[in-house]
Amino acid sequence: MSEISRLSIDNQNLFDATIGEGGVSEKAIQALSPRLDALRKKITEWTESTSPTFLNLPLSNDIKSIKRRGQKIVRDFNRTVVFGIGGSSLGGEMLVRTLGDITPKNTVNFYDNVDPTTLIALEKVDWSETLLMVISKSGNTAETLSQFLTILPVMEHQMGYDKISEHTLFITENKDGALFKLGKELNIEIIEHPPVGGRFSVLSIVGLLPAYVGGVDIAGVMEGARSMVKQCSEKDMLKNPAFHNGAAQFLHAGRGRTISVVMPYADNLRFVVNWFRQLWAESLGKIDINGNHQGLTPTEAHGVTDQHSQLQLLLEGPDDKLITFLTDPAFRFQGRRVPMRFKDIPAITPLAGHTIGELFLSELKATRTTLSRRGRPNRTLALLGRDAYALGELIILLELETVVVAELMGINPFDQPAVEESKVLTREYLSELRSVNEFI
Ligand code: PA5
Repeated sequence: MSEISRLSIDNQNLFDATIGEGGVSEKAIQALSPRLDALRKKITEWTESTSPTFLNLPLSNDIKSIKRRGQKIVRDFNRTVVFGIGGSSLGGEMLVRTLGDITPKNTVNFYDNVDPTTLIALEKVDWSETLLMVISKSGNTAETLSQFLTILPVMEHQMGYDKISEHTLFITENKDGALFKLGKELNIEIIEHPPVGGRFSVLSIVGLLPAYVGGVDIAGVMEGARSMVKQCSEKDMLKNPAFHNGAAQFLHAGRGRTISVVMPYADNLRFVVNWFRQLWAESLGKIDINGNHQGLTPTEAHGVTDQHSQLQLLLEGPDDKLITFLTDPAFRFQGRRVPMRFKDIPAITPLAGHTIGELFLSELKATRTTLSRRGRPNRTLALLGRDAYALGELIILLELETVVVAELMGINPFDQPAVEESKVLTREYLSELRSVNEFI
């Protein structure tokens, strides 16, 4: 029986049969198939592994205990503040902002920066009705630790030391990390972060707990994710969505299309792009074994807004981009109709009688067509109803595409060796300032 899908993948505008010379061929895709045999094996291992991997999270995750924990948080608090950065915040934030309740019982806010002017707002929070969730896989991330350590005295001042453990939760993996030690010292509950890299952890407690608290149907997300895992277990390149789309993007990259533009025609899918940018950039921007600099640059454009900003560049600028549209076919029936009242005014005639959603989708269709006519590769991922199931499918598709492209590039998508240097330097620069601050 074929899997139910609420994510429709229209990638024909990547291929020569549709857009002519600008497209790649199905034959070239097929030719890459043997190069992915090792990955096929790894995918089976990841899926069948008894310990958590990004691919078996949807198959094995204990949703019930995450829900139980989430229900208690919703019962006890009106607000949740999440501290974390990169993979420790982007996935949860995507779920909450895309699928969360508009008027949630518990408002979830993510803080992933150390801009002091933003963080100052936390001093006004009523901590007596707030839970602080601190997420860091390593437990040693300077930004997350500093956020926590600077808000701790504010919380203590408002509620007293004894209440800190009731109002704080840590998610971390590394038992030698600072966060783990702080948790033990302050008697704060520590939930185990699974042994899955941050940017691949959205379908674990890292993304699902804040999502549930923010009103997301996490069971639906996981159901959709499971469906995509199955769709992507297909051996045939042309039938496996991640292999087909990953290989096509790799081939386009070889033709100089090294910029990946994601252009949602749906305001609430913008947070998907934030999450995807990290996944794509941090996983693929690497030096391969031959010393070549690999990577595809993720950028963002918004439909329809950027039709009046970036579209000219996409159409006639350098032919170095591949565009992925995200949308929802259900827009068609949404939004008010433009009244017929002024239909005789020429600029209004074509709009009169149509819903705003029809205008939205017609503009997307026009953008796709104008790009395709110029041989500019593009594809459309349509999330039916922008619901939990469709987003779950999309998450696994994009994660697996990333892994497919990495395999073809000959790089490891799961590490980020170069980022370490700037972390070390930050600590050095801070220690140069120490003599001034050591009495504080
Ligand atoms: O994807 C990754 O592994 C990174 O982006 C991390 O998520 C990020 O650096 C934060 O690390 P940590 O969760 O250890 O605080």
